[in-house]
Amino acid sequence: MAKEQVYIFDTTLRDGEQVPGCKLNTEEKIEIALQLEHLGVDIIEAGFPISSPGDFEAVDKISRTLKTPIVCALSRAVKEDINIAAEAVKRAIRPRIHTGIGTSDIHIRYKLNSTPEEVLKRGVAAVKYAKKFVEDVEFYAEDAGRTNNVFLAEIIEAVIAAGATVVNIPDTTGYCLPEDYGKKIRFLKENVKHIDKAIISTHCHNDLGLATANSVSGIQHGARQVECTINGIGERAGNTSLEEVVMVLKQHSNINVSSNINTQMLFPTSQLVSEMMGMPVQPNKAIVGSNAFSHSSGIHQDGVIKNRENYEIIDPKEVGVTESSIVLTARSGRAALNYRAKKLGYNLSKEELNNSYQNFLILADKKKEVEDNDLHALLSTIVTA
Ligand code: KIV
Ligand code: ZN
Repeated sequence: MAKEQVYIFDTTLRDGEQVPGCKLNTEEKIEIALQLEHLGVDIIEAGFPISSPGDFEAVDKISRTLKTPIVCALSRAVKEDINIAAEAVKRAIRPRIHTGIGTSDIHIRYKLNSTPEEVLKRGVAAVKYAKKFVEDVEFYAEDAGRTNNVFLAEIIEAVIAAGATVVNIPDTTGYCLPEDYGKKIRFLKENVKHIDKAIISTHCHNDLGLATANSVSGIQHGARQVECTINGIGERAGNTSLEEVVMVLKQHSNINVSSNINTQMLFPTSQLVSEMMGMPVQPNKAIVGSNAFSHSSGIHQDGVIKNRENYEIIDPKEVGVTESSIVLTARSGRAALNYRAKKLGYNLSKEELNNSYQNFLILADKKKEVEDNDLHALLSTIVTA
């Protein structure tokens, strides 16, 4: 059976850039947008144009620059926001306006001081108004994760009737469990009239560390667009990480969907975003962290040296990492020492390996990591390279 496509919607430049300290200037945003285009993302949310003149300028310039992806601008369900968003994306080859409103009881009561009926009307009016400018209008039901499913279905049905092409179901506060989020998507698929006229999108935050799991569950239950950011950056604990969700889909072919992402560009893109935003990637971050393909305990190192697949489910080259690394620490065994010695040109006999291993352990206990220069110093007294 042919795989269905999942559209990758990158919001690094909008939800990701909302993080304190991650501010980028227009040139930097354009550079990241071009990298995302090369990476193969389908939609780039370039910013929230009403928020500042700088954001408007960035969305406008990105719209003029990109050739392939849809360029999307965020707005609230407010006419003036939509006017400015429309103006910012009007030079894009494929423009989209992303508009919406809070739908949970908490948002309706405490944020909007409104009623469900009024919120539904405002959502529909916003979609209708945005349709005057662009054909492609995405609606977000903010805090959908904590919204009652029956009301959610009602408002989603109404915005689709008003012309929404994509309906975004954000777990804004990262509250949902994967099973519940998946059931929410399934509920919409089964209870919203004309749901097939729109694409269902996931937009999951990571407050409980479940953003990727929730997005994948959403896809398994019928969503066909995923909103995510490079390195998972975003408000508070972040958004769904693009690289994680893309690699989950690639690893698990039984989900039967595929993306347009050129996975070999994941690591270089992660590095670019991290450097430009001044946001280091945690070493143990899945797929792109510096330890994601490095092995340090003796048992694992021995296994990887025998066959990489003993401890790696992804070939590092597939995500743009040159090779796995065998890190020498006091937990390393002889196999690792021999492997690294060979890489430096030392062919150790069994006896030489045994002798150097004892000295290696003494050194490794003193140092966190034994580097190539330490190894040269250690081995050159025993053998000649
Ligand atoms: O998390 C969220 O609900 C959002 C919306 C504005 C799409 O970022
Ligand atoms: Zn968000």
